[in-house]
Amino acid sequence: MPEKVKILLRFSRYLWPYWWRVALSFALLGIGSLLGMVNPIITKVMIDNVYPNKDMRLFLLLIGAGIGLYMLKTTLGICQNYLNMYLNRRINFDLRIKFYEKLQSLSLDFFSRRQTGEHMYRATNDVDNVVGMITNTIPTLIITSLEFILLLAITLYLNWRLTLMALSLVPLLYLNTHFSSRKLRDLNRINQRQLSDINSILHQGISGTRIIKAFRREKYEVLRYYKKLHENLHLQFKTWRVSTFYGTLGGLIATMGTSWLVWFGWYQVLKGNMSLGSLMAVTVYIFRLYGPLQNYSNLYQSVLVTLVSAERILETLDIEPTVRNTPGAKKLSHVRGSIKFSHVSFEYERGKPVLKDITFDIPAGSLVAIVGESGSGKTTLINLIARLYDPQKGRILIDNYPLKMISMASLRRCVSIAPQEPFLFGRTIMENIKYGNRDATEEDVIEAAKLAEAHEFILNLPNGYYTDVGEGGNRLSRGQRQRLSIARAIIADPRILILDEATSSLDAKTERRIFSNLLLFGRDKTIIIVTHRFSNIISADMILVLQDGSLVEMGNHHELIRNGSVYYRLYKLQLLKEQLGEDRL
Ligand SMILES: Nc1ncnc2c1ncn2[C@@H]1O[C@H](COP(=O)(O)OP(=O)(O)O)[C@@H](O)[C@H]1O
Ligand SMILES: [Mg+2]
Repeated sequence: MPEKVKILLRFSRYLWPYWWRVALSFALLGIGSLLGMVNPIITKVMIDNVYPNKDMRLFLLLIGAGIGLYMLKTTLGICQNYLNMYLNRRINFDLRIKFYEKLQSLSLDFFSRRQTGEHMYRATNDVDNVVGMITNTIPTLIITSLEFILLLAITLYLNWRLTLMALSLVPLLYLNTHFSSRKLRDLNRINQRQLSDINSILHQGISGTRIIKAFRREKYEVLRYYKKLHENLHLQFKTWRVSTFYGTLGGLIATMGTSWLVWFGWYQVLKGNMSLGSLMAVTVYIFRLYGPLQNYSNLYQSVLVTLVSAERILETLDIEPTVRNTPGAKKLSHVRGSIKFSHVSFEYERGKPVLKDITFDIPAGSLVAIVGESGSGKTTLINLIARLYDPQKGRILIDNYPLKMISMASLRRCVSIAPQEPFLFGRTIMENIKYGNRDATEEDVIEAAKLAEAHEFILNLPNGYYTDVGEGGNRLSRGQRQRLSIARAIIADPRILILDEATSSLDAKTERRIFSNLLLFGRDKTIIIVTHRFSNIISADMILVLQDGSLVEMGNHHELIRNGSVYYRLYKLQLLKEQLGEDRL
């Protein structure tokens, strides 16, 4: 329990900036609930004093009071409603921003652990649930408790015998709500899981349309969706049945209790122990007493269910990025671009080393190629240079500074990658290329596009540089996306430029042209290229050969050919492929 209270307290912090609105909202809620208790008294006076004495003045007074009360209550209600809506939307806004900010600050390892759909569920549904809890459920819970205590005091004062009799039904009501809420909570849990699954099916079914169409699995996907949705449909029906059953049962108990009281009360009226008006008032109050009792456990259960959402949000909010600025990290200003690996080992998952004891030294301004079979660790090595991950063992140095001692911002400014997967944002080409450097001018963008051999195809598009590329760039071919992704890396004007199989979907000739453009553009830059086409990297200053996460060979093309080992074999194989024409793309 204290754990749950702690979670609640953490979220109630979000109320602080709006404390006076929260206080006002509470006050209005309380006043509204107090005003709601006056009506039975009016009724009582009507019955006991106005009707028997035919008191016209009192009658008009009471009618006036009734109308005034109603208007006051309605006005306060609207104000309270507005405040509540305001707080709910505001805090929702704050929490969503905070969550997204956190999400953006986290390191890559966090994202590969969970599915996109789950992060999205947390950022939206879970946030809604929690905000609803702190702005609606909990205030209602508090006010309901106060109301109960007050009603109890009133009824005890008016007629303690009747009240105690009424309370004798409480255990029955308690049992009823106890069973119903337990059942409803379980159903609610299942519902949340099902909704999450449904979201995930929908998400994948839309993002995977290409594959679905290509394999003609539309019906299959619809069927999958149908099954899950259908399951949920019946769960909703069941939930309705359960809640209606117990709700009716609770109402029945309360009504029976009240009837029993009316009967007993009537007996007392006949005996002259109580006025008719008092009986009416007490009956209404006691019937109201049951309201909070029935509400109580529903609200409590709803808090319990929402706490699951709260825990999920906190889990994300509490994670610290694994890769972050070291205190005292230096801002590098004039980077030259030498890269040194010293006995670097790395694993994504414990006990599965992906890079093993890598040591090399790249002088600033060199052209370096990394080759190796798929899965040999090329991308991983590059991820380490850009510090997307930190190695478990060994040291990486840029310009002889340990990577960890360089501020993240200045490191990201000096290293720029055109990744294997050319992801584009669903914006214009101009915006996508400019993403690499917000200060770039239109001329810079065109210059970068020319270097990436993209200028011509861009001009052929309907809106040229202002063509929208569609979600993830899906209106362009992969080769076109790759060239834009290279332009985006170039425009950042980094000291270290990395192309990770960024030309894999281009023909050999275009690839060669891009490489020679880069050499002209980046004479003094360190350029690292990962490619499978050996013929285009013959002129590289240094070639690193990776095999199963180990650096097995290192040197320039001629040295490696002379070695007659791994590189030589890969080279011959590639040459053979090119001759057979398998490399035509
Ligand atoms: N995020 C990840 N989590 C776990 N394993 C990974 C991850 N990324 C890559 N790997 C594994 O690391 C190995 C090297 O991958 P990678 O560096 O992408 O190779 P390459 O770029 O040479 O094809 C592969 O066995 C791959 O399965
Ligand atoms: Mg790779």
